[in-house]
Amino acid sequence: MAFPENFITELIERNDIVSVVSEYVRLTRRSGSNMFGLCPFHSEKTPSFSVSPDKQFYHCFGCGKGGGVINFIMEIENLSYPEAVEFLARRAGMQMPAETNDAESRKRARMLALNRDAARFFYEQLSAPAGAPAREYIGKRRISPATARRFGLGAAPDDWGILLNAMEKKGYTAPELFSAGLARRGKNGGFYDTFRNRLMFPVIDVRGNVIGFSGRMLGDGEPKYMNSPETLVFNKSRNLFALNLAKKSKSGYIILSEGNIDVVSLHQAGFDCAVASLGTSLTPEQARLLSRYTNEVIIAYDNDGAGIKASQRAIGILEKLDLKVKVLRISGAKDPDEFIKTRGPEAFRNLIENSENQIDYRLHAVTSKYDLSVDEQKVEFLKEASDMVAHLPGTVERQVYAMRVASMAGVNTDVVTGEVERRRRKLINQARSTEEKKLLRPGRAGASGGSAPGYDDPASAAAEEGLVRLLYLEPELASTVSLPEAGEFSSPELGRIYSALRTKAEAGESVSTASLTDALSPEDMSLLVGLLQKPEILSNSRKSISDYINKIKDRRELRADSSDLRALASKLRQSKGYEG
Ligand code: CTP
Ligand code: MN
Repeated sequence: MAFPENFITELIERNDIVSVVSEYVRLTRRSGSNMFGLCPFHSEKTPSFSVSPDKQFYHCFGCGKGGGVINFIMEIENLSYPEAVEFLARRAGMQMPAETNDAESRKRARMLALNRDAARFFYEQLSAPAGAPAREYIGKRRISPATARRFGLGAAPDDWGILLNAMEKKGYTAPELFSAGLARRGKNGGFYDTFRNRLMFPVIDVRGNVIGFSGRMLGDGEPKYMNSPETLVFNKSRNLFALNLAKKSKSGYIILSEGNIDVVSLHQAGFDCAVASLGTSLTPEQARLLSRYTNEVIIAYDNDGAGIKASQRAIGILEKLDLKVKVLRISGAKDPDEFIKTRGPEAFRNLIENSENQIDYRLHAVTSKYDLSVDEQKVEFLKEASDMVAHLPGTVERQVYAMRVASMAGVNTDVVTGEVERRRRKLINQARSTEEKKLLRPGRAGASGGSAPGYDDPASAAAEEGLVRLLYLEPELASTVSLPEAGEFSSPELGRIYSALRTKAEAGESVSTASLTDALSPEDMSLLVGLLQKPEILSNSRKSISDYINKIKDRRELRADSSDLRALASKLRQSKGYEG
């Protein structure tokens, strides 16, 4: 989505990078005009994360990440570009530009505002007299006030119209509450509150919007939960409860559980990476959403038949997305909440550390299908287990599991290893053509997480960097020289940065990391900010810029010559009958 330039300019002006970053990082040291703190993007003990108030960008000398204020929010809040823009607009109290303001999005915005107000109302009720039963229930479930606040838990009083009344006072209409799922329509045509006498869990999406609610009965009874229906802003299968919190976790994995209560309890015990799937079994959309934030998912479903079945389904869905999957085996408790309450957080951490990867888990599942004391079944087990092991990518891994399978079946390891390798060869043969296709596809250049790429032609790249730097610092120079084409660059990443920069410079638009955010990938942005850290002498910039340009053109010719030579050599080899 393209936002008007003046909108982005104002957005950046009203979101000073130092104050935005300070909400996440303690900037403790000052050196020259830069401020330093501990990098939020990698773990470190001494500060190498710098913020420049003058240049309005951040750069980590440790991990190489860098960019303007929009990049920072994209990175730390895990948002896309338009989402980060919206986030900062909200922070600065700015209206989003009119073109995104059509009837549909106005309706959405209004429903989100209503949801937010309703959440606030439920939250306030929790400390009001009408919230006493919910308060008591929270206490009984041992949810602390701090945790309740963190999740924005609330109380729906035992009343048919208290929310309707409160929201009507705020200017919302009953039909509006109806379409948001907060009110229902009675037989006589009147409206009444959907959620009554329940503990309320607001469902908050990754952008921080309250999109719906989940209300639990205060005790036993049916239905245990009542959820918002699908609305303009709520789609159960595309969201996960508590992902708004879990996405900020530093743990490097996400715990997927079944129940809202489990999630709350896990967070309270220090596992701030727990989410739940809103009462549905995991959907492919939810898995895709998870894969935006992590590459490892630990499944912690209930310890019952349904939970085991659901785990297996979830494994299949998550593996398709190349996510690492582990499964917790919770014993002696029916769910993570009960486990933590009876055994404590440390025991749960042990569970995580000893959690079975999906192979152990599936091996268990395969074993349980067969009676290994019956020879025919043992053979079937060996076939199925060997096939599973053959799919493992690592040689050592295959060896280890082949041994395990052998000992389970009480046969010689060689038997299993032989069977595994036979199946493995078959797999490789089938896969060869697709693998070749993969190899032929050009890889992503410099994909090493923001650090400087290894340049093919360092001499040219140094000049390319210099040109980029000058153009960034003095975009007016663009009109004084004849600029090379991006295709003449030796480095594709520098070429991309250059062409984004050139477009802005030639259009006379403002050049800043923030205004370039839309045009550059986070990796390219980090590279740009990194090379802006190197000094550039501006006193004779007109001369420098033409020196850089000449260098780039010279190197380009040299490379062309040598590639001609290579082509020639290969032609000669072919004419002599050698393979090229
Ligand atoms: N759920 C639902 N409707 C129901 C029952 C459950 O939508 N009638 C969803 C809720 O999101 C719930 C999840 O399924 O959180 C798991 O259900 P359950 O294990 O029964 O609930 P918990 O939240 O774990 O609550 P408790 O610990 O009190 O059993
Ligand atoms: Mn449960």
